[in-house]
Amino acid sequence: MKGIILAGGYGTRLRPLTLVTNKHLLPVYAKPMIFYPIETFRTMGITEAMVVTGEEFSGHFVELLKDGKDFGMRFEYAVQKGAGGIADALRLAEDFADNGTISVILGDNIFEDDFTEARIAFEKQSKGAGLFFKKVADPERFGVPHFDEDDRIIHIEEKPKIPKSSFAVTGLYFYDNHVFDIIKRQKPSQRGEMEITDVNNAYIQEKSMTWSEVKGFWSDAGTFESLYTASTWARSWVTK
Ligand code: G1P
Repeated sequence: MKGIILAGGYGTRLRPLTLVTNKHLLPVYAKPMIFYPIETFRTMGITEAMVVTGEEFSGHFVELLKDGKDFGMRFEYAVQKGAGGIADALRLAEDFADNGTISVILGDNIFEDDFTEARIAFEKQSKGAGLFFKKVADPERFGVPHFDEDDRIIHIEEKPKIPKSSFAVTGLYFYDNHVFDIIKRQKPSQRGEMEITDVNNAYIQEKSMTWSEVKGFWSDAGTFESLYTASTWARSWVTK
């Protein structure tokens, strides 16, 4: 399974920290933010990954990560123009995916869990999509799944005012190659972005979405508060 690390966007919620560098290069305790999703991939056995960056600062990613050998991996790069959203960035990885199953991780997501078993299970299944949910105190900041009375997922709402569950959809996704057809049919949302939540809802409608719960620590790091939370956890993790 190949991996795709999405590290585009302008990181506007972290200004002024993101005025002269990219969000994913900022420190989370002792390492650049993007090292954490890279390590999540490496731990789960993904050795080939495409890093999608924005146009600005893309050279900094290449300087930092190079060909991936320092991580025991192999990296390729793609550059996303503008801030067209997560699904728009993913579109750039179609050739790289080479008709196989893929795992996508957001460059600002910090996970404690090892997803090796989940990866192996998805590779065996080789069809549909897989999501990872985490119970959070502030689901309105995220994609939020809505379940029916039999606990089947019926819909995901992006940043709902009134969340229908207390789960957040985390930024780790498994897809079969059908994901690229879904993105081609997709239209931008009201905020002008190609939403990953719309991609996931397409899989839910096709009844080919599975999910599991993240057990260990998880946080994004795209706001001052979550960056602080992620850094505090990273510090406790390395010093424990
Ligand atoms: C994105 C997704 C959202 C998901 C979150 C996880 O939000 O759109 O569904 O819950 O990542 O970090 P963003 O951080 O781009 O606002």
